[in-house]
Amino acid sequence: MLIIKDIDELKRARASMEGSVGFVPTMGALHPGHLSLIQRAKKENERVIVSIFVNPTQFLEGEDLEKYPKKEEADLKICKHAGVDVVFMPDAMMMYAKDEMSIIAPQVRGYLLEGEKRPGHFDGVLRVVLKLLNLTRPWKAYFGKKDAQQLALIQSMVQDYFLDTVIVPCDIVRDSDGLALSSRNVYLSGEEKTQALSLSRSLRIATKMISSGERNIKTIRDAMIDELSQYIKIDYVAIVDRKFQNIEQIIIGDTIILVAGFVGATRLIDNIQV
Ligand code: PAF
Repeated sequence: MLIIKDIDELKRARASMEGSVGFVPTMGALHPGHLSLIQRAKKENERVIVSIFVNPTQFLEGEDLEKYPKKEEADLKICKHAGVDVVFMPDAMMMYAKDEMSIIAPQVRGYLLEGEKRPGHFDGVLRVVLKLLNLTRPWKAYFGKKDAQQLALIQSMVQDYFLDTVIVPCDIVRDSDGLALSSRNVYLSGEEKTQALSLSRSLRIATKMISSGERNIKTIRDAMIDELSQYIKIDYVAIVDRKFQNIEQIIIGDTIILVAGFVGATRLIDNIQV
């Protein structure tokens, strides 16, 4: 497995790669959710590149950029064991130039829900993903559905900028108790972990109501808020269609239910598609 920190070296390594290339972008602190993306990339491609880069442009002032979990040694072990060909671990200085050309998220879809709570976050995500896709030129790139809005915006960017990569959405991986895996889960104390379970529980409440025939958004949202407000500080509970537009009623096959909130100081998100 090649560990590459330099952009020119990555370009050379990429140029010498034959066959299909799968790409898994990450910010490190790899967990079984990331591993499932890597394993899928391995299955579907002849070569796999993983990037580990805590991208500063997607963190807002006061967010956890400085303390974002770093587990370089363990991450490399996971990648090696999974059969990754190249791990790209650039320095932040290398990835950005002063006063560089930029890309911004769409003014509506990029600035609601996560984008409203974290204005500019998706500009940073799209900026780095575009750079990484240009550097790795993958056939397929793998993204988790947990970051549903990020995934939708990356799919749009690939379409709008005529990129050749196929974006592969991958299912959310959960702990046995239902908690969606996230690198930020390491911040949670035992008690906070119990409180965090209300996120997935609220989504299960919603799906159960929908299975029983409920279609009214307000009724479902109210039930979710009842559950969540006992345990976490809610940031938003949203029920939208898969284009992130408001809907009046649940549309089976075209609805996404999203939750975000603070468990102690840790902000977590989760969602389910129905
Ligand atoms: O989902 C993430 O881990 C990050 O947003 C990504 C896609 C690696 C870009 O920094």
